Amino acid sequence: MSQRLRLGVNIDHVATIRNARGGDHPDPVRAAEIVAQVGGDGITAHLREDRRHIRDEDLARIQAATQLPLNLEMAATEEMLEIALRHKPYAACIVPEKREERTTEGGLDAAGQHNRLQPIVTALSDAGIRVSLFIEADPRQLEAAMRLSAPVVEFHTGEYAHAEGEAKAVQLRRIADMAALAAKNGIEPHAGHGLTYENVQPIAAIPQLAELNIGHYLIGEAVFIGLEASIRRMRDLMDEAR
Ligand code: PXP
Repeated sequence: MSQRLRLGVNIDHVATIRNARGGDHPDPVRAAEIVAQVGGDGITAHLREDRRHIRDEDLARIQAATQLPLNLEMAATEEMLEIALRHKPYAACIVPEKREERTTEGGLDAAGQHNRLQPIVTALSDAGIRVSLFIEADPRQLEAAMRLSAPVVEFHTGEYAHAEGEAKAVQLRRIADMAALAAKNGIEPHAGHGLTYENVQPIAAIPQLAELNIGHYLIGEAVFIGLEASIRRMRDLMDEAR
């Protein structure tokens, strides 16, 4: 039997709605508390360079509000490294970041950016932060993650989420093969991006995956059925697929 699949809830878009009016409602901290109450396994938050959703002061407030591990998504920059070392989240997921993008559009080029990433991965690891690299399900990128001694990789499921028919099956196989290869090499595989009630189950059924990080869909669905129900339904679908 496969191990239990953890669900990390990305609460960025609660902050997106808050920031739309410039005030303090809805508060992502309240979302983090609900995630804890409904048995979510972690809080994921992306402090973007432009601070379009989560802001610096949110991090400490989220950490103080729940016992859940915080997975900080961050670009590989000096500024973000300094913030991560100050806040010491449980985990840091290094993501590529482009100012003009609407969301994280592709995986990190761990292979092409080895020299830039190495000191950041080392500094985070030395501080006891569990480093994850957000990469495409591609053997070159996985090998690069191994060379960087990252204990975790998160596979970008965006292409899978957007593909149809046979192309979707191809993407799924790619993720499943890479998850197996990661686990075989002692790297814990995670996955995330673009996951919904409709597309989560084939991903959740990949036995080596240890964690999914899901945000936009859960927060969107919460508008209609509430955050608690939205997370519970995702949890049930994940459990059913296992
Ligand atoms: N994992 C990573 C590394 C991400 O950057 C994101 C988006 O911020 C997610 C998971 C969640 O993606 P989504 O919001 O599409 O569920």
